[in-house]
Amino acid sequence: MITGFLSLLCLGLCLGYEHEQKNEKLPKPSLSALPRSVVEHNSNVTLKCQCHFQNVTFMLGKLQDSGYKKVQSSAGHDAEFLLMDLKPKNAGTYFCAYKITGSHEWSEKSEHLQLVVTDGHDRPEASSVKTNTRVIFATTFSCLVIFLLFPSVFLIYRCTQHGSSHEESNERFIQSGKSIPLD
Ligand SMILES: *[C@@H]1O[C@H](CO)[C@@H](O)[C@H](O)[C@H]1NC(C)=O
Ligand SMILES: *[C@@H]1O[C@H](CO)[C@@H](O)[C@H](O)[C@H]1NC(C)=O
Repeated sequence: MITGFLSLLCLGLCLGYEHEQKNEKLPKPSLSALPRSVVEHNSNVTLKCQCHFQNVTFMLGKLQDSGYKKVQSSAGHDAEFLLMDLKPKNAGTYFCAYKITGSHEWSEKSEHLQLVVTDGHDRPEASSVKTNTRVIFATTFSCLVIFLLFPSVFLIYRCTQHGSSHEESNERFIQSGKSIPLD
């Protein structure tokens, strides 16, 4: 009975292990930008994806655009994706992956590559996006603070009013008796 249970358990573990092994993805490729990842408006850039295998299919994806997908087969270890006539909208975060022949699964994704397209006046597009985000964040934060501050100030005011209304009227009386102007 126990041996039967143990062998079943072992079988389950072995199957689980095998399943895990099958799901283990291929090691991630590396992605680089040529000549560099900060490029001028209307220029070209080559995104190069490299892996340890030969005869693979590479894909290039973009984090901000799930519909963006370029696929290229290569007999070598790498593939070059040429992006031409770059516009600010081409800026963003790119990644690549590959699959070996006979496999339907993509490898693990490469490290992210940040492509920055400058507008020709040396103002990187990404930094203006960053500034925008910062402004939005600051505004939201201020609004939140004001929103929280108002009720608490009101509450404190109500409490002190309630507590000192009696006192205050006495004080006023004394003060006016001494003819000290109230403001
Ligand atoms: C971009 O590449 C195309 C095709 O290779 C070429 O005609 C064009 O001159 C290149 N543009 C720049 C700015 O290098
Ligand atoms: C790559 O594919 C070609 C033809 O499909 C084949 O002749 C070659 O041996 C393959 N290379 C490797 C390393 O698998």
